[in-house]
Amino acid sequence: MSNPLAAEVHLITGGAGFIGVNLAAALLERGCNLVILDNFSRGSRANLGALADDPRVGVAQVDCSDAGAIEAGLTGFASLGTVTEIWHLAANSDIPAGIADPRIDLTDTFLTTFAVLQVMAARGIETLNFASTGAVYGDLGDVELRETSAPLEPISNYGAMKLASEVQIRAAVEAFLGRANIFRFPNVVGVPATHGVIYDFVGKLLADPSRLEVLGDGTQRKPYFHCDTLVEAMLFIRDRSALAYGVYNIGPSDAGVTVKWIAETVADVFGGEPEIVYGRENRGWVGDVPKFRYNTDKLRQLGWTAEIGSQASVRKAIEQIVALRRS
Ligand SMILES: NC(=O)c1ccc[n+]([C@@H]2O[C@H](COP(=O)([O-])OP(=O)(O)OC[C@H]3O[C@@H](n4cnc5c(N)ncnc54)[C@H](O)[C@@H]3O)[C@@H](O)[C@H]2O)c1
Repeated sequence: MSNPLAAEVHLITGGAGFIGVNLAAALLERGCNLVILDNFSRGSRANLGALADDPRVGVAQVDCSDAGAIEAGLTGFASLGTVTEIWHLAANSDIPAGIADPRIDLTDTFLTTFAVLQVMAARGIETLNFASTGAVYGDLGDVELRETSAPLEPISNYGAMKLASEVQIRAAVEAFLGRANIFRFPNVVGVPATHGVIYDFVGKLLADPSRLEVLGDGTQRKPYFHCDTLVEAMLFIRDRSALAYGVYNIGPSDAGVTVKWIAETVADVFGGEPEIVYGRENRGWVGDVPKFRYNTDKLRQLGWTAEIGSQASVRKAIEQIVALRRS
């Protein structure tokens, strides 16, 4: 079978973060050259491991909310070839931090998108793949979320700036962009985790193995997807979607798992029977959507079905994160 990406050069913004390094490995496997730009606020060279030393990869510390800095970063790696496609993953991934200071999401979640689009217009880069989120739907209650669900009223600054990014990209498709794939991720789990519920629980148990404090009453129920499977779906959409502006939910089609189940499973894998202490509210923090469920028919109709659901994704990630953080 021919390799669809051989000899292409792609840019991953936020490529030293959790999902970025997994995507980078998959693109390299397909024969791509890569430029990775990250401000290392949450990601790191260490996350990239041996990838950082691969001659087909250029890595630089760049604030991607600054178009000039992205330009300079790309120029520095011109020897790898001309970038023809961008995977825009740079964003703030700490939702409570963005609630406390809205400038964080303005800068890292929205202005990075704005700057990436400026660079694409200036360089004539045609294709953008964008890491969006279920947070753009806001809290629509028990409705099964489709790509057409409305009204889109995010309840966190993070969700607001992701939605603003989506519609800015939509306008760019009208003006100059050849193609944009918008991936609405669920909760993504795996390694090297930089944040998230499992990462938090394992960190708490490493600090105090006798007690596990849970944010919220544990009834929050959401879909979870392992990063390996997520990257597979992103590449599938990128290869197969014929839409100039394609919005896709990526995730399991199940009803998700509760935070209580995750806490108990982490405690079980960690061992030592810690006391699990719950909060009182049905949400972990301001801006937390306590319950949502995805409809993934659009992705299925494109020809891709998840082989792993929320429970299996979370179990696999817990084992990986516990092993990694204990090593
Ligand atoms: N992990 C999830 O559950 C999840 C869910 C929905 C959407 N997403 C989206 O997927 C993408 C990747 O998330 P992740 O989980 O890997 O998080 P992450 O924090 O590990 O990765 C994001 C990366 O962006 C970098 N970054 C932040 N601001 C930047 C800036 N101004 N300039 C350059 N780099 C910057 C960080 O250093 C980090 O390496 C993000 O856009 C995130 O919003 C993630």
